[in-house]
Amino acid sequence: MPRSAAVGLDVGTRGVRIVELAVQRGEVKLANFGAAALPPGATTFGEVQDTGAVTATVSGLLKEMGVKKLDEVWAGVADRRVMVRPISLPRLDQNELYGSLELQVEDQLPVNAEELELDFIPTDPGTGTAQIPGLLVAAPRSTISRMLTALGDAGMQPANIDVNALALLRSMAAVGQVSGAKSEAFVDIGAQLTSVVVHHQGTPRFIRVLPSGGDDITAALQEGLGVEMPEAERIKASGGVPATLPVEGTSTALIDAAVQRFVQQIADTLQYYTGTSGRRLETMWLSGGGSLLAGLTGRLEEQLTVPVHLARPFAALNIDTGAWDPEQFSVIEPTLVTAAGLAVGALQAKGVDL
Ligand SMILES: Nc1ncnc2c1ncn2[C@@H]1O[C@H](COP(=O)(O)OP(=O)(O)OP(=O)(O)O)[C@@H](O)[C@H]1O
Ligand SMILES: [Mg+2]
Repeated sequence: MPRSAAVGLDVGTRGVRIVELAVQRGEVKLANFGAAALPPGATTFGEVQDTGAVTATVSGLLKEMGVKKLDEVWAGVADRRVMVRPISLPRLDQNELYGSLELQVEDQLPVNAEELELDFIPTDPGTGTAQIPGLLVAAPRSTISRMLTALGDAGMQPANIDVNALALLRSMAAVGQVSGAKSEAFVDIGAQLTSVVVHHQGTPRFIRVLPSGGDDITAALQEGLGVEMPEAERIKASGGVPATLPVEGTSTALIDAAVQRFVQQIADTLQYYTGTSGRRLETMWLSGGGSLLAGLTGRLEEQLTVPVHLARPFAALNIDTGAWDPEQFSVIEPTLVTAAGLAVGALQAKGVDL
């Protein structure tokens, strides 16, 4: 029996992914993972729209995977309105601190504090100073409560609802891809959302959730070529050189233009970070299904002039690939990064040192 196990659940636009990690003889292993597609429109821009569809998909996947301890799961949310900001708060006891959080940060929030779920994560718990440095995390209450309803109907009371961008950073930190002295960016490109997180010396300094993703490129193809979505997806995945359509040049140009718009948005976002912090970006790691787009890493490297790599969070974990062909796994791996980071959070909460 594993000494400790933890489950992360990522409800995205395209589907639900579950990652189960286990600690055996001091090693973290991928014990189990699974993914199930969601019907179109079940969630949009990170918000659950069709609670019943999400409940049914989550229930089915939990059953298929045989996940038991449903109160220990960490689930995640992504939302354009998620905000994570470094702040310092007075050194109070924990109850006092959380009790007064809303009042302490009210004037720093862009919207009414009542609409937000707030959390404070200390980044340096050192003693002696009057203030504790940490991160203020704010996420819309409505997004969280819709997620909780969908999961609750699937029989699950998650131990924690985390922000996907923090899970993203955690899944990389856990496998030593976060290097100490540099600012690095992790960018998870989903269907409709792109989460950007920049850490400096291991502490997240900048988080943005952009309302764009791989589906923008599919949409540009659909519109430009007058094809249905499945066909546009197929063309996109084949790198824009369709064998069947007599419009090769056009589809390549359409993909190019859409990718350029997307790359520019990421570059603008990261330039805002470098401009305001005065720090240089050393590396960028990509994840999410959208990161599989042919040529994207090269385009980002060109635009940002930093090395861009595909994130491989399981590389350092002891994965039993017995049933999984490494090539097949490498295609699914980018879409498991968020769920992996959520599972890592759940393990760390149990006191496992990663
Ligand atoms: N081989 C591929 N080439 C290009 N794009 C791909 C490929 N495979 C998947 N994608 C794109 O990845 C996107 C889906 O990524 P992912 O599964 O990470 O999204 P999600 O987590 O469900 O959505 P979100 O994070 O926006 O809620 C889609 O736009 C899809 O077209
Ligand atoms: Mg996603």
